[in-house]
Amino acid sequence: MSTESLIRVTVCVNRKPGTTEDEFSKYWAYKHGPLATEWLQPTGRSPLAFDGMGDFWVKKYEDFEAAFLDPYYLEVIQPDEKNLIDMESIQVTIGVERVVIEAFDMSIDIPLKDKIILITGGASGIGLALTQQSHALGARVLVADLRPTPLFTAFAASKPNILFIQSDVSKWSSFDKIFAACEEKWNDVPDAYGICAGLFEPPFSNFWDDREEGDGEKGYMQVRVNVDHPVKLTRMAMRKSLERGKRASVCIIHAIIGFVKSLSSTEPLTGVKITTICPGAVNTPLFTPSKISQFSFAEAKALTPDDVAKHMLELLQKKEYPCGTMLELSLTGTRVLPEWNIAPPAGEGTGQELNAEEMMRAMLRPIEEKLGSERGAKL
Ligand SMILES: NC(=O)c1ccc[n+]([C@@H]2O[C@H](COP(=O)([O-])OP(=O)(O)OC[C@H]3O[C@@H](n4cnc5c(N)ncnc54)[C@H](O)[C@@H]3O)[C@@H](O)[C@H]2O)c1
Repeated sequence: MSTESLIRVTVCVNRKPGTTEDEFSKYWAYKHGPLATEWLQPTGRSPLAFDGMGDFWVKKYEDFEAAFLDPYYLEVIQPDEKNLIDMESIQVTIGVERVVIEAFDMSIDIPLKDKIILITGGASGIGLALTQQSHALGARVLVADLRPTPLFTAFAASKPNILFIQSDVSKWSSFDKIFAACEEKWNDVPDAYGICAGLFEPPFSNFWDDREEGDGEKGYMQVRVNVDHPVKLTRMAMRKSLERGKRASVCIIHAIIGFVKSLSSTEPLTGVKITTICPGAVNTPLFTPSKISQFSFAEAKALTPDDVAKHMLELLQKKEYPCGTMLELSLTGTRVLPEWNIAPPAGEGTGQELNAEEMMRAMLRPIEEKLGSERGAKL
């Protein structure tokens, strides 16, 4: 515990004339608050810390002034303030206070230290980074993947709190095996789920380069891994948590945002918080040489697996990200996606800054070649 002098700036505002208290609260909770959340955090893009009640905390008053010159404030937050606040009657008071700084992070309400996290796809890429960071936090880590990679094996060696379970998440019997191993090792069910196992149009499950084998019983493997597995594992997390009477937190990387959105009000029923992360391109083995050229992948414009894992841990643990949160992550920063009318991603590394014509040509080339080979093939 330590003490520090901080400047407290208290901003008193009145509701926009004609707005009821209920309308004000709802607009703040669902519209304005989400726009400003990251800007109002000391770890975010401004040096501000906001307590949600009107008090801002800064180390120097100039930091407070500078935050209001940030282009994100000027372009996004300020125009929206006019929908909420009577801009004519704002009052600002300034004081200096000595505050006690606690050693633990008050923003976390589902801490993972000493808890169990199940990470599917935890042997490679983003899942491996999540395995490493969860272990560093003091969590017990259950990794479910097709096979251990050399990087995973080297990391997990001599770490009794990491358990690898060979599993194919496209087969639901694998889930029984994973939960049984967890019970056997730790006599418990997971407290958190990092759902990372995934495919990116591999040759054996490719929409364009497809085959009609058997009776379709294999389905589209990519859909089974990227869609069915997170849906089924989320349902199992609910059942397992209810059986044990414990909370859990699920973070899905596949950005099946309709699914996550539809479950946003279920936490009071199940005790399970469900969130999703939507990253731009990430530098992982998922980008094979052919994908690199087809999708104009550039390492310098890509996120690292560590960037994504860090934000997944925040989604899993922090109360500022409630059930249903959809967090976009690009090189520019994060954006909590609103429920409707989602503006396209604009940050660096989202592809928007590339030459669109060239990028589209590269992306369509293998598809056009394939379709060209089929055109008139039977004539
Ligand atoms: N890399 C990116 O640019 C990017 C961007 C957005 C979302 N994602 C998503 O993030 C997830 C992780 O991807 P990554 O980039 O770390 O790739 P990766 O290939 O490094 O890791 C994916 C892991 O999933 C495992 N996996 C695949 N099929 C499996 C199965 N049937 N059962 C068990 N495990 C299986 C693989 O073995 C691998 O370890 C993927 O779902 C991907 O769609 C990636």
